[in-house]
Amino acid sequence: MGITLGAIWAQSLDGVIGDGKGMPWHLPEDLKHFKEKTYGYPVIMGRGTWEALPVKPLPGRANHVLSSRDPGKWSDGAYVSRDIPDLESDAWIIGGAQIYEATIDEVDIIERTLIDVSLADQLGSKAVFAPRIDRDFELVEDGAWQTSTSNALRYKFQRFERK
Ligand SMILES: NC(=O)c1ccc[n+]([C@@H]2O[C@H](COP(=O)([O-])OP(=O)(O)OC[C@H]3O[C@@H](n4cnc5c(N)ncnc54)[C@H](OP(=O)(O)O)[C@@H]3O)[C@@H](O)[C@H]2O)c1
Repeated sequence: MGITLGAIWAQSLDGVIGDGKGMPWHLPEDLKHFKEKTYGYPVIMGRGTWEALPVKPLPGRANHVLSSRDPGKWSDGAYVSRDIPDLESDAWIIGGAQIYEATIDEVDIIERTLIDVSLADQLGSKAVFAPRIDRDFELVEDGAWQTSTSNALRYKFQRFERK
């Protein structure tokens, strides 16, 4: 059996994952979910996402950053590569938009947090979007809607697997 490559992201109902700088919501429950899913596994991200991380590298995970740039001070704590590194264990693609788009055909599972807001109109040209999940995937877990304890945001966790 080969290794399993997963992608994990949080998005609004209309597909927004970011505003180019960060995530346009505050949802501690999603950060906890992200940590639980990815802890102990290599994580692969684009330079944009690396730069947007408030704490880097993400602890307890080998941080791989995809970039055409040479490693340097900017990448301290991460492995930099021009392409998806050869992996010897299961790993997670953690964004952002360019990297999800470039890897979706290689991904076996998707963990998606759906957040009950619509943001595309409000963000306009700043909005960054999740990739389309096509018919090659089926929804295998569709959690109940929950409400954040730190604000009124509603969210749910979903899992898709390649058919
Ligand atoms: N909601 C979520 O779950 C979530 C998760 C992650 C990120 N985000 C959000 O997404 C936004 C960042 O996304 P983004 O699309 O702007 O940036 P990104 O995908 O994180 O990074 C883009 C950079 O990755 C490198 N790159 C792109 N395609 C590549 C390829 N095929 N091979 C190798 N390297 C490649 C390039 O770096 P060089 O220019 O250095 O060559 C490119 O500039 C932020 O707003 C962030 O908060 C949201």
